Amino acid sequence: MSVQETETEVILTHPDNKATTVKILKYGATVYSWTLAGQEQLWLSTAAHMDGSKPVRGGIPLVFPVFGKNETDELLSKLPQHGLARNSTWEFLGQTKSNPPTIQFGLNKNIANPEMTKLWSEEFNLILTIELGADFLKTAIEIENPSTSKDLKFNWLFHTYLRIPDIEDTMISNLVGMKVHDKLLQEAFIDKHPVIQFHQETDVVYEKVTEERVVQVVRQGHPLHTVKRDNLPDVVVWNPWTEKSGNMADFEPKSGFKEMVCIEPGYVTDFVTLQPGKKWNASQILSKDKLKYQAIQ
Ligand code: BG6
Repeated sequence: MSVQETETEVILTHPDNKATTVKILKYGATVYSWTLAGQEQLWLSTAAHMDGSKPVRGGIPLVFPVFGKNETDELLSKLPQHGLARNSTWEFLGQTKSNPPTIQFGLNKNIANPEMTKLWSEEFNLILTIELGADFLKTAIEIENPSTSKDLKFNWLFHTYLRIPDIEDTMISNLVGMKVHDKLLQEAFIDKHPVIQFHQETDVVYEKVTEERVVQVVRQGHPLHTVKRDNLPDVVVWNPWTEKSGNMADFEPKSGFKEMVCIEPGYVTDFVTLQPGKKWNASQILSKDKLKYQAIQ
């Protein structure tokens, strides 16, 4: 059976290889494990809360309707950092395709975490589609504004924690020449480094990166991960390094920052403004793929 549902999670197994699986917690519709032929591709903290008491530290938490902590928007500033999708229990809508196994989860105002909808009471319908390919994982989001009179204003982001052997010999490629906003320096500049390397805490947002730019996590000349994006122009690159991870109670082991890097495709520099009755779609595809070098233009 390629789809198994329990009270708290859903597990997909690829029909051609039973060691290719994806596991999704209904809480947050959080993908918390993805194995390709037996090899785990995502990082998950050993102290992650898996009981719905806190967003999951690791896997692919979903960020909606606000990225980070908004201080200025009249409505969105009331929500906690990264919004309400990662701390709401989603409804499992079932399987839509058998090969590659594909399933859907839904979230709307009526079933979302009431602590959050008290703070932000807009109407929304989200459908998350998860497709487990033999050699890829696709996560796609559809956002509908069901209101008949009001625009829906939001950010979306897949907060993907990728597993890597060692942050110190890992590079991120194909973002050269892009405008980057460094959240720690609070400065924006054009990044001329041919690749991104990590020596300290990194928290940057590459802005309006064209879809042709395929972000790759490269080690010893081979891509460990390839991230393709559709309608997600911004790419956040995050590694908390020693001090920040040391201060996060749910980040374990403390040396775990060496084995993860977040590549987070999103729509976060601007807000999407969706008119009444309209829908918006976006997706990310994770795979290994071949090395592709895209130089500065
Ligand atoms: C990243 C942000 O997307 O998420 C960082 O750019 C933030 O600033 C990180 O620290 C983790 O956020 P949280 O809320 O899961 O601790």
